[in-house]
Amino acid sequence: MREGHNNVIYRQDYLPPPFWIDSVDLTFDLDPAKTRVLNKMRVRRNPDVPPQALRLDGEELNLARVLVNGQGTSFKMEDHTLVLENLPEGNDPFELEIFTTCAPAKNTKLMGLYVSNESFFTQCEAEGFRRITYFLDRPDVMASYTVTLRGDKTKYPVMLSNGNLVEQGELDDDRHFAKWVDPFRKPSYLFALVAGQLVCREQRIVSRSGKEHLLQVYVRAGDLDKTEHAMNSLMHSVAWDEARFNLPLDLERFMIVATSDFNMGAMENKGLNIFNTKYVLASQATATDVDFANIESVVGHEYFHNWTGNRVTCRDWFQLSLKEGLTVFRDQEFSQDLAGEASARAVKRIEDVRVLRSAQFPEDAGPMAHPVRPDQYLEINNFYTVTVYEKGAEVVRMQQTLVGREGFAKGMALYFQRHDGHAVTCDDFAQAIADANPESPLAQKLEQFKRWYSQAGTPRVRAEGRFDEASGTYTLTLSQSCAPTPGQATKLPFVIPIAYGLVAADGREVASGMHVLTEASETLTFNGLQAAPVPSLLRGFSAPVILDHDYTDERLLTLLAHDTDPFNRWEAAQRLATARALKAIRGGGEVELDAPFVEAMRTVLRHPTLDAAFKELVLTLPGETYIAEQLETVDPQRVHVVREAMKEQLAQQLFADFEQAYEQNKDTGAYRPDPVSSGRRALAGLALAHLCLAARQSGDTVWPGKAYQRFKDAGNMTDRFNALTALVTSGHPLAAEALQRFHAMFKDEALVIDKWFALQASAPDRGGNVLPVVKQLMSHPDFNIRNPNRARSVIFSYCSGNPGGFHRADAAGYVFWSERVMELDSMNPQVAARLARALDRWKKLAEPLRTAAREAIARVAAKPDLSNDVREVVTRALA
Ligand code: ARG
Ligand code: ZN
Repeated sequence: MREGHNNVIYRQDYLPPPFWIDSVDLTFDLDPAKTRVLNKMRVRRNPDVPPQALRLDGEELNLARVLVNGQGTSFKMEDHTLVLENLPEGNDPFELEIFTTCAPAKNTKLMGLYVSNESFFTQCEAEGFRRITYFLDRPDVMASYTVTLRGDKTKYPVMLSNGNLVEQGELDDDRHFAKWVDPFRKPSYLFALVAGQLVCREQRIVSRSGKEHLLQVYVRAGDLDKTEHAMNSLMHSVAWDEARFNLPLDLERFMIVATSDFNMGAMENKGLNIFNTKYVLASQATATDVDFANIESVVGHEYFHNWTGNRVTCRDWFQLSLKEGLTVFRDQEFSQDLAGEASARAVKRIEDVRVLRSAQFPEDAGPMAHPVRPDQYLEINNFYTVTVYEKGAEVVRMQQTLVGREGFAKGMALYFQRHDGHAVTCDDFAQAIADANPESPLAQKLEQFKRWYSQAGTPRVRAEGRFDEASGTYTLTLSQSCAPTPGQATKLPFVIPIAYGLVAADGREVASGMHVLTEASETLTFNGLQAAPVPSLLRGFSAPVILDHDYTDERLLTLLAHDTDPFNRWEAAQRLATARALKAIRGGGEVELDAPFVEAMRTVLRHPTLDAAFKELVLTLPGETYIAEQLETVDPQRVHVVREAMKEQLAQQLFADFEQAYEQNKDTGAYRPDPVSSGRRALAGLALAHLCLAARQSGDTVWPGKAYQRFKDAGNMTDRFNALTALVTSGHPLAAEALQRFHAMFKDEALVIDKWFALQASAPDRGGNVLPVVKQLMSHPDFNIRNPNRARSVIFSYCSGNPGGFHRADAAGYVFWSERVMELDSMNPQVAARLARALDRWKKLAEPLRTAAREAIARVAAKPDLSNDVREVVTRALA
């Protein structure tokens, strides 16, 4: 049956709930085929709302019984909603008891209660709790939870829920029970249960206040040796939130559980975080440096939600960025603080900006563009986006920039003082930060600043400089604009903090500061200059905008060589490279890298003091998606060919320099995933890839041979996988053998096998060779489309991660895409809708791709019984 289709929900329609649920007492009889759920709630009318019926959300539940104060009662079903009209009058609480069953083993959506590897897990955010029991499944209804789990002792020796274990014991028939009480009130989306054969790593810690806490990381039996890093990350997170924001761990017991079947990265359920194994399990043999870093930031992210999300939660789902933008900001700051030195912080910042610009900027310019606080949705799961998360984090970061680091900490303190235990809005957050800093530019321009929450689209700032020789005056005119987005034809000016410096041709810094741009156009004047300076604008990427300035190569080279801001140093190199890519793409596709550019790259590569990590970022060309965004009309294959040609030329012309970089950085000693040695491994990996690429032209066999040797001998996954990648991306014949060996070595490590699939599906396309490989991979015995990680490793790596291979002139990539979207939609609409977004930017494509893409989207849109998730994405794409 089609589910409530065309039911768009609008932010403006928010109404407080007509009832409150003060407490919930849940009893589960766990059975994969038929789990019985007894739900006893204490409910009362909300006195601020006119009396009305109680309408409880439910989905795919079998309803057996409804009792009010112990008596049977009349009820009706309206679609999926359970409607109770004859409830006690007055404002006294009453007891509502609902008995239902559900079928976790059949739950392929992985929302609500489901089975993975014979264990039970839940995922309730955003609206999964209604798949467990009838409820007011909205974040502003906060209740106290008591949960009793009953199940088979052998199959489910571990049974967990939120809060504290208060009782456990034996039942008949080889069953047992565990009773959990969560000391904090919470919205239903933070409920969780886990049951299965799991083992855990434990750690007792004492927090600053002297309180003892038990930290646990639960995994499957064979994975215990891969939990040390997650546990360390959790301990660092606890210490960091205390030190930086004075926010202590408020629970006696804090648990993380890993599952290999998970729609997203992880989930911050109160005291019982549930994680995708990808963000928990790591050993030097199986995980790369990037995996280690991701684990640190995701463990931090979910832990930080304990305050920003759980103690203070969202009034409604339009406010999602209240917790997500803020918590991403917090996890980014956490990783930067742990990275330590200024140069390592800058590397982290560059990596974050790269994600923002290559994923969020395109989203903000496409059919799914939406404000950080959206105004409407059909399916809320579609709004767990890079805009809500990453742009939302930038909006919080700008608030910190405008009030200062200390002022921001004060604002956070006021936010918790005002709103602890409540469900609030993005406005409440910004208001608290501003009120704690009344003299700040944020407070003075708060209403205007909040346009960052309400207006979609990436603003452009155009900078024009003029130097008057006679007076020694430099004037800099900054103008802002923002293109229309769906439903928002015109935009008002934003508040844009622009950190800047002026750099003299010899590299001296002659001025620096922060300008807060609020008007459509403003002019800054600098006096007493000897010569025209080079402006270094938007230092540290102080605002999520596109900066247009007619930089000459010469000026960019000055910035690359001398800017004191590492971000803009990197940015100068990116601009130089982007300009060359665009010129080649707009021309005939011929690439001829000029000497000044190559020499600048050589200087960076050979630089005596720059960090290896920074060198690696500078020497990595802007991604294909980023380059494509700079074009009006895109032929992704041409973008790919040009970028590959640029890489090959760098590889040839910097051959000796890459050799040196490789030799200097290839040995990093005993493995530690710290920023310095990770950076060295990254640079060695980049060098090796280029050396193999150069060998491709020259026919040299030495470097491919060395890469193969390294692949075999490597002492950690980073070096091993980099060597394998060098062979695969250079298309060397040894790649096939290496891939086979790799699979044999790691056949029992699901996360490594995901890498094996992903590497092949995202390999550089040479004459259309990738799609056939992808199809073959899908019939590999290890492939399973129902496992989201596996589906992502093959299908998403190809459709979203391999533009050169996907956008085929014969449209076979699009046909493949439409088939997979429809196939996935029938089992897991959330995952299907993510995949559906691979063709978001079809209107930019050059013909005949554009027409072929539209037809593929239209085919998906025409499918009967399409989920709301996919329907929303394809309808917006075609609009
Ligand atoms: N709150 C989780 C996090 O950011 C993500 C949950 C996503 N859930 C969803 N249904 N889309 O850590
Ligand atoms: Zn989050």
